[in-house]
Amino acid sequence: MATHSIHHVGVIGAGTMGNGIAQVFAQSGFQVSLVDVSAPALDRARAAIEKSLGRFVGKGSLSSTDRDATLNRIATATALDPLASADYVIEAIVERADAKRALFATLDTVTRRDVILASNTSSISITLLGAATTRPDLVLGMHFMNPVPLMTLVELIRGQATADDAMATAAGLCATLGKTGVEAADYPGFIANRILLPMLNEAFFAVMEGVGTPDAIDAVMRGGMNHPMGPLTLADFIGLDVCLAILNVLHDGLGDPKYRPCPLLKRMVAAGHLGRKSGQGFYTYA
Ligand code: CAA
Repeated sequence: MATHSIHHVGVIGAGTMGNGIAQVFAQSGFQVSLVDVSAPALDRARAAIEKSLGRFVGKGSLSSTDRDATLNRIATATALDPLASADYVIEAIVERADAKRALFATLDTVTRRDVILASNTSSISITLLGAATTRPDLVLGMHFMNPVPLMTLVELIRGQATADDAMATAAGLCATLGKTGVEAADYPGFIANRILLPMLNEAFFAVMEGVGTPDAIDAVMRGGMNHPMGPLTLADFIGLDVCLAILNVLHDGLGDPKYRPCPLLKRMVAAGHLGRKSGQGFYTYA
């Protein structure tokens, strides 16, 4: 389906990424159906979107009329039924291959046959997800960066069977959202996390070995390399469980010991210290 024929976008999963994706599509004029099995998660999503839009209104880059119109374009649901009329679907559920494959198999039956099914996965194989459907040519990765409303890059992942037309449509949508789509091949971690996670993992080892405190390591990377956030602040922001899941995908998928997750990271995740979202990670959050 060509970019200009897409009006109604389905987003599945109302976590941090799903919220952000729903927000940016609605801000760009698309009707959005945001679906999650959890009604409280949908309520939290709406509050998060309102807060983010409020920040744009506060600094004068969005009018209150546009904020209200954006919010009115987002409908929420706890079942997939509204996706029967969707023109494009993006999945942003939990980072588990089995859960995503089951959802893609269901989406294949719920949505129109010409609809592209995109995944916001940060590292799971797009080819594997495509193979769970009867339309692997229309399955691709559309990997947004956190925080979605601010970050301009979207990684576009081409699975083994993804058609050129589908990639072109996804790239067109990125442009409509004011973002830049960059194509990556379907190998573990794609481009972003193949490069980011080994750096974060090295920072975890540096803490474990006492090379520096989290503050010192972050200060070096912020002040010395001009990174907007130090690696440990960024890992807390991404979620330490998500970092561990991505490192496991890199380690299992590429088989190279250089991707082995740092034991300190594993211990923190086992303790439930997941970063900002749990209140405790390398830093403590109020
Ligand atoms: N919505 C709207 N506005 C927001 C916002 C949101 N969700 N989050 C922050 N802002 C605004 C703030 O209101 C603030 O506005 P003003 O400048 O007008 O005051 C501005 O953005 C900057 O925010 P802060 O002052 O709070 O903090 P900051 O200057 O450090 O910027 C940041 C925040 C843009 C997130 C910046 O720290 C940054 O770029 N960090 C790196 C983020 C990054 O690397 N993301 C990728 C993570 S990896 C990933 O997502 C992929 C994966 O698979 C793991």
